[in-house]
Amino acid sequence: MSVFSTEEIAAIRGRFPILSRIVNGKPLAYLDSAASSQVPEQVIEAVARFQRTTRANVHRGVHRLSQEATEVHEGLRDRIQRLLGASRREEIVFVRGTTEAINLVAWTFGRQKLNAGDVVLAGELEHHANLVPWQIVAAERGARVEKIPALDDGTLDFDAYEKLLDSLPVRIVAIQQVSNALGTIHPVERIVAAAKRRGVATLVDGAQSVPHMRVDVQALGCDFLAFSGHKMYGPTGLGFLYGRYELLESMPPWQGGGDMIDKVSFSGTTFHEPPWRFEAGTPHYEAPSGMNAALDFLEEIGIERIAAREHELLEYAQTRLREIEGLRILGSAPHKAGVVSFVLEGVHHYDAGMFLDQMGIAVRTGHHCAQPAMERYGVTGTIRASFAVFNTEDEIDRLVAGVVRLQKVLR
Ligand SMILES: Cc1ncc(COP(=O)(O)O)c(C=O)c1O
Repeated sequence: MSVFSTEEIAAIRGRFPILSRIVNGKPLAYLDSAASSQVPEQVIEAVARFQRTTRANVHRGVHRLSQEATEVHEGLRDRIQRLLGASRREEIVFVRGTTEAINLVAWTFGRQKLNAGDVVLAGELEHHANLVPWQIVAAERGARVEKIPALDDGTLDFDAYEKLLDSLPVRIVAIQQVSNALGTIHPVERIVAAAKRRGVATLVDGAQSVPHMRVDVQALGCDFLAFSGHKMYGPTGLGFLYGRYELLESMPPWQGGGDMIDKVSFSGTTFHEPPWRFEAGTPHYEAPSGMNAALDFLEEIGIERIAAREHELLEYAQTRLREIEGLRILGSAPHKAGVVSFVLEGVHHYDAGMFLDQMGIAVRTGHHCAQPAMERYGVTGTIRASFAVFNTEDEIDRLVAGVVRLQKVLR
C-alpha cells in the first residue's frame, strides 16, 4: 500500500502549476527538489495577495499596512519556533538562507570562540556552505577545520569522530543532518550529544532535513540549526537560523544598519536584543506570507507522510536504477532521504544532464557544492535525482528509460 492513493498524488500535483509545463516538447519531470523545491499555487497566491494588499516595510511604520506586514513577519517567527520546538521565539533569526545563517554564526560566534590552534570539525560530506565560512573564519583566527571522515557507504565514521573530539582542541562541530550529495541521514542526535559531553558547540545544517522530516532542536540538543525556505515549498530569499538564546545574547552583531540598533549617535551605538540584532536592513518582507502558505501546505499533508512517501520513491528509484548495467549509485547508508546520486560508466555527468533535459527530465549534475564528498568517492560529479511529495513512480520510470537511452547514444 502506497502512502498516498493515485488520486491523492494527482491532487497534490495539481496544486503545483509548474508541473504542467512542457519542457523540450515533453512533460516536465522535476527531480531536483534538493536544489529548490517547487511551490504550490497557495504560496504563489499568498505572495501575490500580500503584494496587492499589504506591501509595506516592517517594524517601521505606525500605519496600517506596516502593522499588518509586521504581524505576518513576526507571526512567522512564532510558527518557525513551533516547527522546530525552540523554547522561545527570540531564538529564531530571519536570514536569506542556510548559507547566510552559517556565515552569521561563523562570523560572530565562530570568531568569538576560535583562537590560535583551535579546531572546527566538519563532516566530509558537508555542503560548501557549511565548510567554507568556517575555513575563512578559522584562517583569520589562526584556527583550522578538520574533517570527520566518511565511510564507503556514505555514513560518517563515528569512532573516528569521537577520537578527533578527544585528541584535538575542538571548539565547534559543524554537521549536516542530511547529505544533499548522497542522501545520507546522519545520526545528528548522537553526534551532538558526543560534542556536548565534551563542552563543544554544535551547528546543524538542516537545509536538507527540515523540509523532509520532523526536526526538534531541543531533542537534538544542538546550539544552532540553519535551513532555507526555498527547499520546503516556500519562497526564495528567506531562511532561518535557530540559536540557543544564551548564545545569541552573547554574540556581537554581524551586519550593521537599520533595525538592528537600539540607539545610534556619533559617540556610539547600542544594539537591539536578539534576534533583531542580527537582522539589519529591510528584510525580504514579502516572503513570510508565502512561507506561511508553505507551512500550511506541509502541515496539511503532514511531514511524516511526506517523509514516508519520499522514502517510497527513493526505494523505487534505487531498485529500478540498480537494474541498469554500468550505473553505480553512490551512498548506501541504512538511513537515506529522497536523494539518489549515481554515475554512469563512460558517460560524463554533464552530458547526461543535458541529454535528460532534452527529455523534459530535470536532474542535478555536478559536484553539488560538495567537492570533498566527490573526492572521497573518486568522482568529479554525479547525476542526482531528488524527490518531493509531488513526484511519481512514472517520473522515475522516465528517468530510467532516459538513462538507458542515453547509454546507447553516448557510449
Ligand atoms: C546541505 C545543504 N546545506 C546548505 C545549502 C545551502 O542552502 P542555500 O543555498 O539555500 O543557502 C544547501 C543547498 O543546496 C544544502 O543542500
